[in-house]
Amino acid sequence: MKITVVGTGYVGLVTGVCLASIGHEVICVDINSRKIELLKRGKSPIYESGLEEMLREHRNNISFTTDPVEAYSDAQIIMVGVGTPERADGSCDLTYVYSVADDIVEYSQGNPVIVIKSTVPIGTCQKFKKYINSRMEKDRQLSVVSNPEFLSQGTAIKDTLHASRIVIGSDDGDAIRTVREVYEPFGIPIIETDFQSSEMIKYASNNYLALRISYINEIANLCEEVGADITDVACGMGYDKRIGSMFLKAGIGYGGSCFPKDTKALYWLSENQGAALKTIRATIDVNTEQKFIILKKAAKYYDSLKGLTVAVLGLSFKPGTDDVREAPSLRIIPALIETGAKVKAWDPIAVSNFSKLFPDVVTYCRTIEETIDGADICFILTEWQDVINFDISEYASRMKKPIVIDGRNCYAIGEVKGKGIVYESIGRQAVK
Ligand code: UDX
Ligand code: UDX
Repeated sequence: MKITVVGTGYVGLVTGVCLASIGHEVICVDINSRKIELLKRGKSPIYESGLEEMLREHRNNISFTTDPVEAYSDAQIIMVGVGTPERADGSCDLTYVYSVADDIVEYSQGNPVIVIKSTVPIGTCQKFKKYINSRMEKDRQLSVVSNPEFLSQGTAIKDTLHASRIVIGSDDGDAIRTVREVYEPFGIPIIETDFQSSEMIKYASNNYLALRISYINEIANLCEEVGADITDVACGMGYDKRIGSMFLKAGIGYGGSCFPKDTKALYWLSENQGAALKTIRATIDVNTEQKFIILKKAAKYYDSLKGLTVAVLGLSFKPGTDDVREAPSLRIIPALIETGAKVKAWDPIAVSNFSKLFPDVVTYCRTIEETIDGADICFILTEWQDVINFDISEYASRMKKPIVIDGRNCYAIGEVKGKGIVYESIGRQAVK
């Protein structure tokens, strides 16, 4: 099928490439000409494992443009994957989605099915359909389908090709059948539903995962008080099939482009409906505080970090991505700078994105060794494999004061004991 994908971010680009890989004829359109130029040269503008290789392998089925005429005039399906950022009040900003609607009205021909992949508040698809069709000629009324994505950054291709489910929601049976045909080669279970339920499946899933993280983080904080170990606790809980072991990893809170904005957007919507979700309010509040927990731990060792050298390992919101959106580093590092600490930071791939936001105030290092050399304290913010594999005794030999505050529980307590370091982690007893 001829498919146009709008937006070449994590969602749009990965979707486009995966659809090209099963034989669809895909055109990706983006307003960002720098991204499109890179893509035309076979280069991915984002870091995502395996994406560039797939781009090259399927280049005959996928093309890139900034030109709306080229993008929309021949499409059978138009998939919308533009960003839906949060507004200052926490609600969802749909400006980009509606700007695509205007382009579709102006440039599309025939009767393409419009598929909304972007995460949009419950009720949006119905309004979007009315908006478009009220601007189209009476004999050309377009169908709209809600089809949320569930991919995680870092494993986005696998998550798309081997997704747990494909959700298709619409008020139009023919449009549902067309979208079903697009995905059938993947052989993944397909759930058909209405617009609102489809939109809600996405929000309820992301919010539930975020809630699990805040829950386990609160339990972790309590574990420290009562002498329990969160790793053992999560392991023991995870064996229960009704609970499961995933998304029970305690740390310094969730970040990224989805959980923070989707929890706020659902809470905002629920409040507006007069049915405020108390569990989600708590999820957001716990997460906000959790990011700073490592600074509280540092206060046990130093009255102030003013003038001290602080090593920071990891800048991205999770390993496997160069994305720093809503990463704990974006909160911790400015707080450190504010107190007058000298910050040295390392990340294997996210320095380029992070340093655009903080160009001068942080010393960026190329290795973990260089980062911790002479440091008075070290904070681990992302559980990169390089950090997990790092020889723990190096902290003792290289740091001025070997105090390591691990926000991601990278090391087993048994491994750290006897290595001559002070080690604080999340939900476990300190090693001194
Ligand atoms: C996606 C979703 O679409 C969002 O709703 C979901 O909640 C998270 O994942 P993501 O792929 O991460 O967003 O977004 P981003 O990386 O910001 O990419 C969006 C792309 O759309 C950008 O390349 C941007 O240039 C493009 N864009 C934006 C357009 O082409 N047209 C516009 O009008 C606006
Ligand atoms: C998430 C969802 O997993 C995905 O289904 C949705 O489509 C987009 O949002 P992503 O943001 O890429 O994907 O990453 P994810 O792996 O879910 O992690 C999000 C955040 O939660 C990270 O900051 C991560 O460190 C944190 N996290 C995750 C934990 O703190 N503990 C866990 O057990 C799992």
